[in-house]
Formats: sequence, C-alpha cells, structure tokens
Amino acid sequence: MARLNAAVLPLCVALLAFSLAGQSAAGRYYSDQVQDKVRKEVEKAMAYNPSIGPALVRLVFHDCWVNGCDGSVLLDKTPTDGTNTEKKAVNNIGLAGFEVIDTIKQKVGAAASCADILAFAGRDAADILSRGNIFYSIPGGRKDGVVSSAAAADANLPESTFDFGQLQTNFAAPGRNFTVEELVVLSGAHSIGVAHLSSYKDRLGADATPIDSDYQSALAKATPPELLGKGQDPTVPNNPRDASAAFQKDAAYDPAAVGVSPTRGVLDNSYYHNNLINKVLFKSDWVLRTDGFAASKLQEYKDNAAEWNSDFAAAMVKLSSLPAQGKNLEIRKNCRFTNQQYYY
Ligand code: HEM
Repeated sequence: MARLNAAVLPLCVALLAFSLAGQSAAGRYYSDQVQDKVRKEVEKAMAYNPSIGPALVRLVFHDCWVNGCDGSVLLDKTPTDGTNTEKKAVNNIGLAGFEVIDTIKQKVGAAASCADILAFAGRDAADILSRGNIFYSIPGGRKDGVVSSAAAADANLPESTFDFGQLQTNFAAPGRNFTVEELVVLSGAHSIGVAHLSSYKDRLGADATPIDSDYQSALAKATPPELLGKGQDPTVPNNPRDASAAFQKDAAYDPAAVGVSPTRGVLDNSYYHNNLINKVLFKSDWVLRTDGFAASKLQEYKDNAAEWNSDFAAAMVKLSSLPAQGKNLEIRKNCRFTNQQYYY
C-alpha cells in the first residue's frame, strides 16, 4: 500500500469523518451536528414504528399554530398551567412522537431548543415520508416557551368540523397570515397518518357533508359510530390508499383507477385525487371544494405532483418560522418541563 503523504492524511481523515458524520441513510447531509443527530434518530424511530412519521409532521403544525414555534406542545406541566397543558386539548387528540423528541433531546442537550428539535424532526419525517420529494432547509435558533394551555390550543387549532370560512379565518389570523392557497397546500398532509372516529363521526351520518357513499359505508363498517357510546374511539387511515384491501374493496377505492400510487404511507398529492372524488375523511378537507379558488387549487395540485411537493415544502418553512410569543423564552433542559418552577 502506498505511503500516505503527511499533508494528505489529515484531509483523508477529515473526509472520512465528514462522510460518516454527515451522511444519513436517506442521503441528506447536514452541516451541523444537531440536525445530523435529529435526522438519525428520526430515521431509526420511523423504521421501528412507521406511525411516528405522520405524528412528527403533525406536531410541527400543532406546536407552531399555538404561540408560535416554541415547543409548548411538548410540555407536561408549567408554572402557570399546571398539568392542563396543550396535550390535554381536545383538538390534540392522537398527538404522538413525544418520546422521539425526548430521545433526541438527551443526545443534543443544550445545543438545541426543543422547538428546534421538533421543527427539524418534522422536516426530516416529511422528507422520508415523501421519499425525498419534499425537502427544505430551516435555520435553528428557536426558543422554548414556558406557557402551554389546553384552552389556548383548542381556541387556536382548527377543527375537523370547520366550514371553509372558519378555516380561512383561522389560517389568516394575525401573526399567522396563511393564505387560502397555503391552507389547501398544507391540508395535503392528510395524505398520511390516521384519525380517530370522534374526529370524523359527522361524516358517517345521513346529514354529512358530501362524501362518496361507498367510502362512507366502508368507514361505518370499519369503525361503527356506536362504538363511541361504548367508550371506544378506533382509528382509520386518513387516506383510503393506506387502508386494507378489504376496506378498499368496500370503499370501491382502486388507487390505479383514482390515479394515485398504491404505495402505502407516502406523503404525496394523492389527497387531492381523493378529495375530488369525495373520498376524504374530514369535513374540513371536503369544504375546500366549496370555495372557487380553493377548488381550483385542489385541481391544480391533483394534476401537478411536483408543484405540490415544492409548495408544501415552502409552506412548511413558513409554518416552522412562526416566531415564539411571550416572555421568559429559554432552552429547556427537558422538553416536558420548564427550567424553573416559577417566572417573574
Ligand atoms: C386545515 C386544518 C386542519 C384540520 C381541521 C386538521 C384536523 C386533523 C384531525 C382531526 C386529525 C386526526 C386526529 C385524530 O383523530 O387522531 C388530523 C390528523 C393529521 N393532521 Fe391535520 N388538520 C389540519 C391541518 C393539518 C396541517 C396543516 C398538517 C401538517 C402540516 C396536518 C397534519 C396532520 C397529520 C400528519 C395527521 C395524522 C397524524 C398521525 O397519524 O399521527 N393537519 N388532522
């Protein structure tokens, strides 16, 4: 073996370290160690439990929509709210992924806020779930808040029974300023993940907002509404593409006929295909058809997958950049608790 020139050796070592430290399984390189650690943990967690990916994408929305991106959704207890934190909000039903954030926090320590970790983790989950089609860069530097109220979460997060006007107002609220186009773009996140029966029970009755009758029967068969009266709240996939073959048969849902890729679990524009044939889960999805401009965007994103990928990435950057509100911002030691018992 040729002897390495003394001047070349450090370069080789540096290159090796670069490629080992910076290259994730999916091929993304991050120029800082925090993002690299986040990436690796998200990849591991999603490989172990695929439902973590959608949960992390949703967490970004639910954190940043309430007091800005301040990690408030992660808190179990605060000096002002006790244990009645955002996690207890009705609109936060099904929220998950907290353990992954905890694990990452243990690895990065004080080098990143919980709000940064959450934003990076959601970004990486979107990248992996979209098979690399949705990728965006976001800076760090977010700070963690010390307030987290269930009531504030329920007052700020949109509900699945909202009509179009309520969604539009919610998205356009001062401090957010999200457009109808961004509402339509971000709703495409419902191509992944699951929902509880209580979140779509209004879609199963005779007076439901328009819904394909086969799809409605399949939903009622898979999760009979009476279960709610018996204390059960089962889930179905948000996207019929991700449901079992039996469900798809009941729902007369054939991905090829609908024009979507049959691969389950992918974050893509299938939501728009489904919406335009009334096979979407929530009223808040369907009502996008009731506004002329929103409906035209549904059609546009159905027809142009690449455009949706890039517009979704841009909207996620905007979402992940909503500034933290309030005072006493800090870098939490533990994402579930504020650093102090009280604040002036
Ligand atoms: C437009 C207003 C929105 C409404 C009314 C809404 C409502 C909901 C509801 C009710 C669920 C099911 C919760 C459950 O029953 O477990 C859900 C799930 C989900 N939402 Fe939304 N959402 C909206 C916007 C968004 C946005 C902007 C994103 C992300 C950018 C998002 C991402 C998700 C994801 C990924 C899931 C599945 C989560 C999982 O499987 O863990 N949603 N949404």
